[in-house]
Order: sequence, then C-alpha cells, then structure tokens
Amino acid sequence: MATPSAPREQWGSKLGFILAAAGSAIGLGNIWKFPYVVGENGGSAFIIIYLLCTAIIGLPVLVGEILIGRTTQRNPVGAFRALSGSRFWAGVGGMGVAAGFLILSFYAVIAGWSVGYIYESFSGDLFKYADPTKAAVHFEELTHDVVWIIGYFGFFMILTMGLVYAGVQKGIERGSKIMMPVLFLLLIFVMIRGITMEGSGAGLEFLLKPDWSHVSGQTFLIALGQAFFTLSMGMGAMLTYGSYMSKKDSVPSSALQILLLDTAIALVAGIAIFTSVFATGLDAAAGPGLIFHTLPVVFMKMPGGEFFGPIFFILLSIAALTSAISLLEVITAYFVDEKGWTRHRAVIVFGSVTFLIGIPSALSFNVLSDTTIFGLNFFGLVDYLTANIMLPLGGLLIAVFIAYVWKFDKALIELKKGAERLFNKNPLLITLWQIFIKFFAPVLIFLVLLHSTGILDVLGL
Ligand code: PHE
Repeated sequence: MATPSAPREQWGSKLGFILAAAGSAIGLGNIWKFPYVVGENGGSAFIIIYLLCTAIIGLPVLVGEILIGRTTQRNPVGAFRALSGSRFWAGVGGMGVAAGFLILSFYAVIAGWSVGYIYESFSGDLFKYADPTKAAVHFEELTHDVVWIIGYFGFFMILTMGLVYAGVQKGIERGSKIMMPVLFLLLIFVMIRGITMEGSGAGLEFLLKPDWSHVSGQTFLIALGQAFFTLSMGMGAMLTYGSYMSKKDSVPSSALQILLLDTAIALVAGIAIFTSVFATGLDAAAGPGLIFHTLPVVFMKMPGGEFFGPIFFILLSIAALTSAISLLEVITAYFVDEKGWTRHRAVIVFGSVTFLIGIPSALSFNVLSDTTIFGLNFFGLVDYLTANIMLPLGGLLIAVFIAYVWKFDKALIELKKGAERLFNKNPLLITLWQIFIKFFAPVLIFLVLLHSTGILDVLGL
C-alpha cells in the first residue's frame, strides 16, 4: 500500500465539504431520475417508501460511510484495508470503485442530453414545440441520432476529466459553491409555474394520494436503490469525499444537511414535473425521457421561458458535472493512492475507458434499443445493476463492517470527533445510531434484496 508522503489535500472549510458532498448528491438523480422512477412506480406510495428508506437506512449508513473515509483518509479500497487488514474487505472497496465506473458510464450519457438541450434552448429549437407530444417526438429524434448522443456524451466526459484533472480543491469545491443555490431557486420557479398551470391538481393528487396497489417487492428495491443513488452512497464517493474532511467537523450534522438538501431538491423537482405532466396530458410513466418531454413545454408556457430555459439546462448540466466529478474522483483516488499513479494519468486513462464502456448505453436509445437482456436494454441493465444491487449491497456491507469488523465502539470514538457538542446535548443519538447501524439498516437492506430476488415468495413469506 502506498502511503502518501505529502499531507493529503483537505477541504478549505466545513462548508467546502458540505457543498462538494451536496454537489455529488444533487444531480441527475434528483431532477432526472427521481421524477421518472416515481412516474413508473405509481407516485405517492413510492415516494413514501423512498423517504422511509432515506431516513431509516440512508442516514445511518451515510454517516458511517463518511466516517470511514475521514478516519482513514484513504480511497475506498485502502480505507477498508486499513481498518480491517483483510483482503475481502479491500475487495468490497473495489466493488465500489467498479460501481463508480459503471455509473459514470451511463450517467454521462444522460448528462450529455442536458448539455445538448442547452444548445436546443439557445437556438430556439426547444420552443418550437409548445405541443407536448411534439416535444416528446423531438426528444426521440435527438436521441435517435447517434452522432448527437455520443458527441454530447464525449463532450461531457471531457469536461468531467478536466475538472478532476485540476485537483480536489480548485476543481471541485469552487464549482459547487456558486451554482447549487441558483439551481434550487430556478427549480422553485418551475415548480410554481407547474402548480399554477390549469389541470395541475391531478399531478398533486398523484404525488399526495398513495395508491398502494402498485407496490410490490420490486418497488421497495427501486426505492432503496433510488435513495442510495441520489445520496451517492454505497460505492465510496462519500467515503472518498469524507477522506478530505477535517476531524474538527461533525460528521452526523454534515450528513444530515446533505440529506435534507438532496431530498428537498428531489421533492421540488417531483412537484415541478408532475404538475406539468398532468396539466399537459403527458405520460407520467414515459421513462428516462420524462423531463425532456415535459420541461420544454413548461418553459414555453412560462413568462421569460426563453431566458429561464437555457439557464435551467446549464445549471442541470453543472449539477450533473459535480456528481460526475465525484464518480471519477473515486477511481482516480484509488489509482493514485494504491497504485502510485499520477492524478493526470489516472484521469486520462479511466476517463477514456469510462467513455468506451458508456457507448453501448448511448446506443441503447437508438441502434441497440431492441437488444435486451433480462428484458432491459444495456442502459437499463447497467442502471439496475449498479443502483438497485451494487449500491444497496455496498451499504449493507458498510453497516456490517462498522458494527462487526471495525467494531462499533472504535467507530464511535471517531464519530465523536468534531461532534462533541451534538452528542453532549443529545446522547440518545449514539444509541440510535448503534441500533440502526447494527440491526435495522443491514437487516432491512438484506430483506429488500432477498425479496426482490423472489426467494421470500418461494418460501411463502
Ligand atoms: N447522487 C448523484 C445524483 O443524484 C449520482 C451519483 C451516484 C453520484 C453515485 C456519485 C455516486 O445525481
């Protein structure tokens, strides 16, 4: 294991960590994925399950993941190895690095759409489609164009590589600080426009009145996967960011702030999209194209839409960029720390490899759209495998690791650093974290994973 000789870079401030970690968490997961999985999985009942997963499983595991990083100041593989000395656990870190690769490969394809829509809205093309079905057709036309989809995907990968190449503080922290609040504000505008559209009530009903008839074992898995995906959890991104965090700062309060911000943005995006979807008669279950079908119509109907439209897609692309950076950073940190590579070499090699792996995902929306494995196209398969299987499994292993390998008491000593005041005032929080990390989180994730494989059904449970 290479021990870094120079002192490890650290965030400039506590705010630096929170903004960068929130930058990782907030991205396409909130604004693109959340609305479309809610749409496909029946609305409000799904949201309730998702919120429960976030609170009961997400928060305790997020605290644990950041803590492992801060304690060891290493990449995921090095971190697990340092705390356990075991190859198995180093391998768990390795699974995270692999998940990061795979996620980035399809994530950057979708981010490319957002970048492409910046051009569409500047050129005015986007606003030719006041009729909702035409906006959807236009989206299909664009994504059917192989050059368009791969071109923007490649462009987005180059942007991501450029920022990771520039290094931790300069590249990542600075970017996140400015843009996120503006994005949030703009989403709130879009939400207000959505709510005030005629016919938006049906959308609110879809979001507020739970219909449990859509809920199955799969629903739980997808909600859990969405909670992990949107919080960038279970594959070491938060661990890696935590490794640059100071021991003077409180892990639990930072984790809570990130989670609240992330959840608030997803909910605002959900309201914005579904009020508009129902008001314009679009299909709530349209899948990955949902926001690209809906938003152009909303901007058309919004005073100043020609102005807000491009800004929105610029900010969405930046939000995607701050998430993509965190994915590439995990891979980079691993090769720099463990294999002694230079940062530049790691970025160029793995950025390029990610691009190659992403090509079949990009083609899933055109030439490969009919090629399916287990009923999913390549994009769908990589998304399902990473978000719904690898991330929750990673989370399960993180909880088990803290509770039974690293051992809870040792973890607690680390957790208290920077959080003395919080725990002195609320000693109950320690017991809660203990119960959740030792029992609830691992058992619940295990049950959801098991249920989704159908084993419980076979056993008649
Ligand atoms: N959380 C990011 C988003 O919501 C995606 C992501 C997943 C980033 C996993 C890093 C790790 O857009």
